Amino acid sequence: MAHLWSGRFAGDPDADLFAFGASFPFDRRLFEDDVQGSRAWAAGLARAGVLSAADAAAIEQGLRQMLELGTADPAYVSDAHGDEDVHAFVERELIARIGDAGRRLHTGRSRNEQVAVDLRLYLKRRVPDIQRAIAETIGKFVALAGRAGDALMPSYTHLRRAQPILVSHFLLSHCAALRRDFDRLGGVLHEADELPLGSGAIAGTAYAIDVNGLAAALGFSRIARNSIDVSGDRDFVASFLHAASLGMVHLSRIAEDFILFTSEEFGFFELADEAATGSSLMPQKKNPDPLELVRGKSGRVIGHLTGWLVTMKGLPAGYNKDLQEDKEALFDTEDTWLGCLRAVSRVLAGLTPNAAASGQAASGLLLATDVADYLVAKGLPFRDAHEVVGAIVRRLLAEGRAFDELSLAEWRQHSPLFAEDVRTAITPLASVEKKQTPQSTGPTAVAAALSETREWLKAYGS
Ligand code: ARG
Repeated sequence: MAHLWSGRFAGDPDADLFAFGASFPFDRRLFEDDVQGSRAWAAGLARAGVLSAADAAAIEQGLRQMLELGTADPAYVSDAHGDEDVHAFVERELIARIGDAGRRLHTGRSRNEQVAVDLRLYLKRRVPDIQRAIAETIGKFVALAGRAGDALMPSYTHLRRAQPILVSHFLLSHCAALRRDFDRLGGVLHEADELPLGSGAIAGTAYAIDVNGLAAALGFSRIARNSIDVSGDRDFVASFLHAASLGMVHLSRIAEDFILFTSEEFGFFELADEAATGSSLMPQKKNPDPLELVRGKSGRVIGHLTGWLVTMKGLPAGYNKDLQEDKEALFDTEDTWLGCLRAVSRVLAGLTPNAAASGQAASGLLLATDVADYLVAKGLPFRDAHEVVGAIVRRLLAEGRAFDELSLAEWRQHSPLFAEDVRTAITPLASVEKKQTPQSTGPTAVAAALSETREWLKAYGS
């Protein structure tokens, strides 16, 4: 069969090597983008007086029909003809449909810029779907916070009990990270929003193409700065992979938290039966497999980022075939990230908070900071207060007791500043209610944060 470049060669390429170099099995996913880019290019050629109105109309009609066929039936974009890549597929199909006019479409254009425009268009249409999935996950956290009400739990540092918090405050902490993921994708969209066409293979094009008009027609807000840069630039792919890697790091940490907090040891939340799996041997098991898989898949996405950076780092200026490796990394990352966001959303939707268990864990020695704050309020310097409370903690640990078991006389053995009110001041709820700053676990702050998140979700339309 003839390839886009067959003219220069006396014979056919080695079949195995051709298959090795072909990208159609995976870049067919860019079909829609390749057709849209080609429609705009044909119109640009016509406006520059390179294509006759009749040829341009034939190309436009042929491409539009192909797009309809491909949209109605994905199998239309099939491997049956052994095409090298999606660009070859589109051109061959077009020529098969409209004849000679189709042979004029590639005037002044190169696949090097075509693949760049396709990928940028692809990201521009797919990234909003990922943003929607992130917003949906945030929505599930907000709903869970609603079910948690005013339940308390311990916060942890070094995975040791630190201070009491509202369960909803903990849930909102994950929303904060997801909001950054959402915004980071906004940055990726901005980076992708640049028209590469007009760059030719590397040196630009010899035809008077109105690239600004072309950018507007394809929805790009600006044009590329340098044709050489265009043919070798995949920074926007790296940025997407980086955004995805951080997004997966966040999902992995969410997964880890709920694997822990739904375990027998913590029991702060109950996993829905539908979100768990059993053991083939141990009848009592209720395993959090979906969360473990999310945690596990983060490695593969980070691997794509690492692999892609390594692929790019040694390339000389201009297009190199190595760049073809960008697509499988990008597509698998997109699928994995979306799949994990949906899995986490489903698991969150089925979680039941256990306020008794988490509240119970939020009382005890983790109130030590509140005892120190109590003494500070009575005028003691914090460093001294820390020491006094350290001694009380040592005593309680030795006696196996808690703050609320101390009599006033026992309190006063440690400092004369302790008075009757110490017995009501040192509770998990009082601790939480004392917090003042907007980012704190103070109930007013958390209520405000929750409603701000709900407003954000509404504004986003989810
Ligand atoms: N399939 C190629 C890729 O994905 C398209 C660009 C090919 N350009 C070339 N000069 N061989 O990178």
